[in-house]
Amino acid sequence: MCGIVGYIGFRQGDQVVISSLKRLEYRGYDSWGYAVANGKEIEIKKKVGSISAVEVKEKRAEGVTVSIGHTRWATHGKPSDINAHPHTDCDEEIAVVHNGIITNFSSLKNELISEGHIFRSETDTEVIPHLIERCYKDSKSFEEAVIKAIKFLKGSYAFVALKKDEKKLIACKYKSPLILGVGDGELIFASDVPAILEYTNRVIYLNDGDIVIAEPGKYRIINERGEVVRDIELIHWSIEDAEKSGYEHFMLKEINENPRVIEDTLGEYVTDKIELDPSFAAGISEIVIVACGTSYHAGLIGKYVIEKLAGIPVRVEYASEYNYHQIIPGRSLILGITQSGETADTLEALRAAKRMGLRTCSIVNVVGSTATKISDHVLFTRAGPEISVAATKSFIAQLIVLYIIAIKLSPLTRQEKKELIEELKSLPEKVQRILDKQHDIDEIAKKLSNFENIMYIGRGLGFPTALEGALKMKEISYIHAEGYPAGELKHGPFALLGENTPVVAVINRDETYEIMLNNIKEVKARESLVIAVSDDKDEEVDNFVDFAIKTPETLPILSPILHSVAFQLLAYFTARIRGCEIDKPRNLAKSVTVE
Ligand code: AGP
Ligand code: GLU
Repeated sequence: MCGIVGYIGFRQGDQVVISSLKRLEYRGYDSWGYAVANGKEIEIKKKVGSISAVEVKEKRAEGVTVSIGHTRWATHGKPSDINAHPHTDCDEEIAVVHNGIITNFSSLKNELISEGHIFRSETDTEVIPHLIERCYKDSKSFEEAVIKAIKFLKGSYAFVALKKDEKKLIACKYKSPLILGVGDGELIFASDVPAILEYTNRVIYLNDGDIVIAEPGKYRIINERGEVVRDIELIHWSIEDAEKSGYEHFMLKEINENPRVIEDTLGEYVTDKIELDPSFAAGISEIVIVACGTSYHAGLIGKYVIEKLAGIPVRVEYASEYNYHQIIPGRSLILGITQSGETADTLEALRAAKRMGLRTCSIVNVVGSTATKISDHVLFTRAGPEISVAATKSFIAQLIVLYIIAIKLSPLTRQEKKELIEELKSLPEKVQRILDKQHDIDEIAKKLSNFENIMYIGRGLGFPTALEGALKMKEISYIHAEGYPAGELKHGPFALLGENTPVVAVINRDETYEIMLNNIKEVKARESLVIAVSDDKDEEVDNFVDFAIKTPETLPILSPILHSVAFQLLAYFTARIRGCEIDKPRNLAKSVTVE
């Protein structure tokens, strides 16, 4: 998820990788490490914490140097010196740095252990050097061994491998980012452009399935069809632009990562069936979700979904309020939802639940965070580090986990579950279609950006979606935005409607559809501008509203995912037009560690 670097060339290898890793720090990480092959052995240094103060002694580079480096954002195994990359085979002859997740690592590891391999870390990554070691025994070369080894891997990876006695780096990419910088007499692999800009601005964006064999001053790219040629592109970005992969803000970059995040989070729990041990929920009478902010809204959507699919009662509490009114039956499951795993109120609610002897489970994005240590069970989202204060991709990943829980706990038939899973698997492509048409949403943002109040409304699943849309809007654009159940408008907020208060309505084509259209008619009669988010098969809605944001059709129960991505973009573009500080909104912090 974080940063990798691999260097082969005439400079001092450890210096190059450390300096390049520092340029990848913005991606967020918990530990770092590097390896240098000196012909006789591999020198490795790795540590928990920050790399920013690490310096290496300057020595004269002797001939060609071969080195790899890594900043880790733990997914499997806590952040620790041992779990930090690089990882090696038994004899420490092969070292690997890896970004991504090997989803079948557990069965591979058991197999390798039974063959006598000794593992040192808790990571999924460590299976890679051991597999290469195993394959090397009946291969003619290092690259042949790597090519054989990757056939066993499932999941996502960008990795670079070196061998103690070879002037060679082998890099493989599948669903995690990897580029190759092509300098004069030197080659540098990295997960992102800032890491290479000090050495070259000539870059190859590698494709999934590419394997690169880099040797002094030359490289070959192969994939399953044989040798391939990839274009070299020239980068004209500054380092700062490059940190955001060319996006203007981290928030936009992270919204654009949603398809990958859905895929990775599904990959964690779903093969042809759901790979989730439901024992954490065995025998429970209800689920009590505790969370704050955006994670709380994910919980509200989870309530509708779990109650509908699994028939288990769910209540959702602001973690900060939970302590003031608890009548929690002993057979309740307390489900914490927290991206950071460090939100003080959520942690306190989880601790209070434990003191009451209740079972706890948390949905968390940051491995090794406090929530993972104090909960009985942990379900990880696979969003990768989120830099922008506004939660976007982590929210979508939380929803995916909640859908998975609901489907797993539901009494649906195998066929019904299969259909839901298939539709979930189609969401990355559908989200991509929204992203591809993001300029349409920018046009609508232009209309909203002049107002100081916006009302977001919805019914059923549309209501928590509206709440989250409004939170995102107010948080980054500083427009007062309020989410309301559409049916509640007439009980007060109607007094606010009029030409100065636009209404954004969430339209789901389920049992709420007709009544939502009626509610919109009532709003229009008060002269508010109405913008709907609806699916692209819904032509009827166009007759009722001023503008409609259309998202691809999906099952109504899954629509919050697509609608929320559209709302993330709407908030982003509105804030950008208003010139707001998008990634660091005023007065807010990414992780709220005080109650
Ligand atoms: C969302 O955009 C906010 N930054 C905020 O509401 C956030 O979701 C909340 O602070 C909870 O954080 P957590 O998920 O890390 O616990
Ligand atoms: N899954 C690997 C680990 O937990 C790699 C994480 C990363 O991409 O930083 O070590």
